[in-house]
Amino acid sequence: MANITDSKCVLVIGATAGIGRTLAASIHALPSNPTVIVSGRRQERLDELAKTGLETIQFDVNADAESLQAFVDELLGRYPQVDTVVFSAAVQYEYDFTKPETLDLKKFYSELNLNYITIVTLITYLLPHFFKLGEKGQPCFLLPITSNLGIAPGAWTPCYSATKAALHSLALSLNEQLKDTNVRIMEIMPPLVESELHNTAGNTERVAQYWMPLDKFVHDVMEGLKRGDRTIAVGMSADQYERFEKGKEEIVHATMEEWKSW
Ligand SMILES: NC(=O)c1ccc[n+]([C@@H]2O[C@H](COP(=O)([O-])OP(=O)(O)OC[C@H]3O[C@@H](n4cnc5c(N)ncnc54)[C@H](OP(=O)(O)O)[C@@H]3O)[C@@H](O)[C@H]2O)c1
Repeated sequence: MANITDSKCVLVIGATAGIGRTLAASIHALPSNPTVIVSGRRQERLDELAKTGLETIQFDVNADAESLQAFVDELLGRYPQVDTVVFSAAVQYEYDFTKPETLDLKKFYSELNLNYITIVTLITYLLPHFFKLGEKGQPCFLLPITSNLGIAPGAWTPCYSATKAALHSLALSLNEQLKDTNVRIMEIMPPLVESELHNTAGNTERVAQYWMPLDKFVHDVMEGLKRGDRTIAVGMSADQYERFEKGKEEIVHATMEEWKSW
């Protein structure tokens, strides 16, 4: 089964902190020795990561389609061998619909854009390149990072949960549509994990009692990536996946076959 050890050049978007940063380091440490490019907005953190042998590209992916196309063009111009992209950049905000006057819809739309729309856009722009590499025999990988909150929403963070549900659904559709190509989806579904994600909502102290240590989480993810698992659900996400998601891929496949026969 094709897996992360087949990757020759990996881009991790959202790698200046948390899951993306630790995952980038673990992929870089693989004996297969892939080139790893890390991306994010904070240049000083990228500079630190460059000292560890990682390539860097500074970019704010919460951008419009034109800017994202320019980003992909720059990326492929500098690294024409990119065959794997990890989509780790995301934000999580809280909204209280009992106080609609407090809702900042601009923030809502921006969260939707970063966590979902940009990923769809980047995948669309990357796929022609991946198909070309795939035809030459190079397996290519798209690694969206979803969440257990995409299965059962966290009601305090409704937009985030909806973006993760949308991304999970997209991963299922792409997995089915791309199954006869050399492009594979490996969806990473974390539980609550140690990171900076919760800083924006000021929740870090409260959730730190319950989160999975980052190193333990990334260790488990790497095992799944090395097996080439289609879905890598860890901890609480694995329980929820087992309960609500198991067997969905077969239904998606059967529905697609039926659709084609109409
Ligand atoms: N931690 C959890 O409990 C948890 C649970 C389930 C799923 N997840 C998912 O796991 C992924 C990683 O989250 P994390 O916990 O590692 O979060 P994190 O520690 O907050 O890291 C997020 C990363 O995304 C980057 N980023 C944010 N906005 C960006 C933008 N506009 N453009 C480019 N990069 C941007 C940040 O870098 P800059 O600020 O330098 O741009 C940072 O490197 C996310 O998709 C998250 O939804 C996390």
